Amino acid sequence: MKVTVVGAGNVGATCADVLAYREIANEIVIVDIKEGLAEGKALDIWQKAPINLYDSRTVGSTNDYSKTAGSDVVVITSGLPRKPGMSRDDLIGTNANIVKIVTENIIQHSPDCIIIVVSNPLDVMTYQAHLISKFPRERVFGMAGILDTARYRAFLAEELNVSPKDIQAVLMGGHGDTMVPLPRYTTVGGIPVTELIDSAKLDAIIERTKFGGGELVKLMGTSAWYAPGSAAAQMVEAIVRDQRRVFPVCVELAGEYGIQNCYLGAPVILGKNGIEKVIELDLNDQEMELLKTSETHVREVMNVLEKV
Ligand code: NAI
Ligand code: 2OP
Repeated sequence: MKVTVVGAGNVGATCADVLAYREIANEIVIVDIKEGLAEGKALDIWQKAPINLYDSRTVGSTNDYSKTAGSDVVVITSGLPRKPGMSRDDLIGTNANIVKIVTENIIQHSPDCIIIVVSNPLDVMTYQAHLISKFPRERVFGMAGILDTARYRAFLAEELNVSPKDIQAVLMGGHGDTMVPLPRYTTVGGIPVTELIDSAKLDAIIERTKFGGGELVKLMGTSAWYAPGSAAAQMVEAIVRDQRRVFPVCVELAGEYGIQNCYLGAPVILGKNGIEKVIELDLNDQEMELLKTSETHVREVMNVLEKV
């Protein structure tokens, strides 16, 4: 299996590293526009192989997409990250053009690939990759829900003093402050979370999750990379190993939840064909209202994309 990661920055390099040391792909190409950066990161990851004992090959490329030819999966992480005080949406002017150019190059050399978008603003950048590639929704989708649920699960594990492995959760909507965590679908070793935690504490965790990305930007002056890079690699793994994992993914809704032509987070089955199925939960009125609010916000950013 051949996987390309575009963007050799914090998220892209972390994703490539996880793909390599977990031997998720045997050939990993890293591309960046900055001279020598991708080659350097690829060489560094390859030189770690004798220490961490893996044989996946990493190859770097400065904007030469011929090296990416025939990729099965492509992860797009190229673009500016947030600085303190910025929202993800503030990045649209620059990142929309980067995602456009990168997508054009990718599909020229890998017309049958599956594209996973990571660049922000995530939902609209995924839509942009869909518009440019003209790939069906099964083959172009975005990473956000795995990261957002991971934050939610980590906060819950800390509060309950249990292993994060035992916390299962789903979260819907856009990758932003209007995301919709779903406590009704959150369990701890099969036990509904609401039986283990009082509602005030749960509400506080939900609020912290919604602003989880911003919390890290404030601490580090740029956005996170370990969890985002690992989350993108986990999606690649589900595809290349045909695992049929159930994950929240940014996917084009085509009538599900009464929503059309809009990229939003929803639970899906991820396998060798990409999105194997969009799962439709039976949301209650309050959950549906939150999802609609999130849709409205994403559509506002989609309108900005049309202007840029
Ligand atoms: P970074 O600045 O560390 O890396 C971005 C890389 O993209 C840089 O190395 C840059 O040279 C490269 N790049 C820029 N234009 C390019 C082009 N035309 N072709 C190839 N490479 C190009 O940023 P970081 O932290 O890796 O974040 C990347 C993106 O991912 C940002 O937009 C960030 O907001 C987003 N992000 C999304 C998350 C999500 O949950 N979806 C989570 C974390 C970050
Ligand atoms: C995050 O949530 C910035 O989207 C990125 O960390």
